[in-house]
Parts: sequence; C-alpha cells; structure tokens
Amino acid sequence: MKLPAGTVIAVDGPAAAGKGTLARRLAAELGLPYLDTGLLYRAVGRRVLDRGIDPQDARAAEAEARALTPKDLARSDLRGSLADMAASKVAAIPAVRAALLDFQRRFGAAQGAVLDGRDIGTVVFPAAQVKLFITASVAERARRRFLELTGRGVAADPAQVEAEIRDRDAQDANRPVAPTKRAADAFEIDTTALNADETFSAALAFISKKLDSA
Ligand code: DC
Repeated sequence: MKLPAGTVIAVDGPAAAGKGTLARRLAAELGLPYLDTGLLYRAVGRRVLDRGIDPQDARAAEAEARALTPKDLARSDLRGSLADMAASKVAAIPAVRAALLDFQRRFGAAQGAVLDGRDIGTVVFPAAQVKLFITASVAERARRRFLELTGRGVAADPAQVEAEIRDRDAQDANRPVAPTKRAADAFEIDTTALNADETFSAALAFISKKLDSA
C-alpha cells in the first residue's frame, strides 16, 4: 500500500487490547516509524518511583517528565504492576501530559508515524489521517496480560491481573484530561474474538479503504 507522505496512524484503546502488537506490525508493513506513547508515561512513573515520590505529586512528576531522556525509555523495568499503576497515575496529571505532548507531535510530524496510546486520535493528532480504536472484553484482556506475564517468567495471579486492569481502565477513562476515548472518526475493532492476524487484516482493510476515499 502506498501512503501519502506524512501519514499519521493513531491507535488508541485500553490496556492489553492488542494496540501495541497491531501498531508495531502496521508500522513495519507500511514503512512508518512507531512510537509506543505508553512507554513515555511508564518512564516518567519509574523516575518518580526511583526518587521515592508519590506519583500523584504533580510538581515532582512534571519535573521528571521534563527531565526524561532516551535512556529512560530503554529501561527493562517499565512493565509490571507497580510501573503500570505509576504510569497511569502520572498520566492523569495535566502538566505531565503537556510536557510529553511536543515530543509526540514532533515524532509524528517528522515523516508520519504509527503511534499507540489513549489520546492519540483525540488530543495528540486530532487530524490524523487514520484513527483506530482497539478494544476487547476485560476478561480477554486480563487473560492476555496474564499469559504475557507468565510467558516472561513473572509470577501472576489471574484475579489480581484482572482487578489491576479494571483499576487502570477506570483511572485512564475517568480522568478529566485526555481520557481514553474513541475519537468520533475512529474505526473500532473489538479484538475479543480475533487473533493478531485477523486484527491486522481488519486494520489494513480499513486503512486501504480510508486512504482510497481520501
Ligand atoms: O499503553 P500502556 O498500558 O503502556 O500505558 C501505560 C499508562 O500510560 C496507561 O495506564 C495510561 C497512560 N497513557 C496515557 O495516558 N496516554 C497515552 N497516550 C499512553 C499511555
């Protein structure tokens, strides 16, 4: 598929719905750079935890967001329940979001990109040429996260994994600033009963139709 120069593809949705897998694959297929924006919030949360600060401390979290370096994004301890919750907490702070906005916009504007997150189609790139919203039932997302954790050798309890996903969903969807929300012009794919290949095919079919009609 030949994309217009600078095409931005926004992939939003709740935790463990399959956004990352899909976005990475779309980027490879379409020859676009890829940015996992959740990693930015995870890295800020991690820096805040390292300093022993409460992730809800807005001033401290903003300072850490402004001090973020590429090295922070390469850390190996950005996933796991502590990092998940810290990321979600710092992500609710408007000044943290503002500090990370420019970087995301510059990344996408340079040569187009696929970005995944919660607010890419609503706030970061409201004029993105393609917007996808990826969902799945809570039970299915918890099952996938449990398999991912145990696959990495991390001990996990299925009920606790599901409870943490519910908590994070609530926190990310109910915050006043840039909550997880499907943009009005986003194409929604419910991946509950789809595997990664089927999700990828559905997304590619939508992108092709969308760009043909543009
Ligand atoms: O996509 P993820 O699970 O890695 O994201 C971690 C947290 O970061 C998530 O709970 C909410 C927040 N986040 C956000 O608020 N906006 C984004 N664009 C991406 C992530």
